[in-house]
Amino acid sequence: MAIASITNLVSKNKTSKVVICPNWRNFTWKFKKMKNIADIRKEYKLESLDESGSDNDPIKQFGIWWEQAAGSNIEEVNAMTLSTVGENNRPSSRTVLLKDYQEEGFTFFTNYESHKGNDINKNPYVSLVFFWKELERQVRIEGIARKVSSAQSDEYFNSRPAGSRIGAWASPQSKMIASRAVLEKNEVEYTQKFAGGNIPRPPHWGGYLVEPDLIEFWQGRPGRLHDRIRYRKNEIANPKENTNGNWIKDRLAP
Ligand SMILES: Cc1cc2nc3c(=O)[nH]c(=O)nc-3n(C[C@H](O)[C@H](O)[C@H](O)COP(=O)(O)O)c2cc1C
Repeated sequence: MAIASITNLVSKNKTSKVVICPNWRNFTWKFKKMKNIADIRKEYKLESLDESGSDNDPIKQFGIWWEQAAGSNIEEVNAMTLSTVGENNRPSSRTVLLKDYQEEGFTFFTNYESHKGNDINKNPYVSLVFFWKELERQVRIEGIARKVSSAQSDEYFNSRPAGSRIGAWASPQSKMIASRAVLEKNEVEYTQKFAGGNIPRPPHWGGYLVEPDLIEFWQGRPGRLHDRIRYRKNEIANPKENTNGNWIKDRLAP
């Protein structure tokens, strides 16, 4: 059992926190100095990225970095921040999981009636961010989110464990609920409903493909002089048409 108390100490005009943890095994007190948030910083030095060393096709460049990230024992390497902007012009961000990427873009799955789903319905422009801290890398993607085909959503849904498939039915994602009991009751009901048979994909659940028109690769470098290589599509993505212009590559100041 660990009980910790946090004490503020004032030294040299700075407040730092000391965590006092009783160590019950040998009845000693451990004093561990916690860093001030403002003092947390890291020097980046692993790699570099430049105009000639990066592919001219950002999806191919993503593939190179993806393979390296996926091979680096990074936990939840496919976790990415998805930002949407809804009707009220307020941005909203959350983590989702990348489930596929191809020449056309980046795919994730969710509830189409969730906060993000409603935002995308009103405004399909979204952004995605990967932060692979172990590689000192960030990838930023901007573009348009479009629903994938029902067949594609079915294929992925059917590959999920039964518990997750029931969960998609049981959770009215982003809606207010009175208590956890609501979810547990829904779970029991849908488990009974689909007992012994197929668990179909709920019509409100499926994938989005984010078709990018901007992709930026960031590699941390010493002295905060990081490398940033940005690719822009000739045409800004348009919700009404597919864009297939060439990519323009630029270096940006960090
Ligand atoms: C690591 C991680 C992965 C997640 N993956 C997904 C996902 O793939 N799809 C999804 O709908 N929610 C996922 N979530 C939950 C979302 O972050 C979010 O809570 C949920 O989608 C509701 O968001 P919304 O109310 O803004 O629509 C994930 C959360 C975490 C922390």
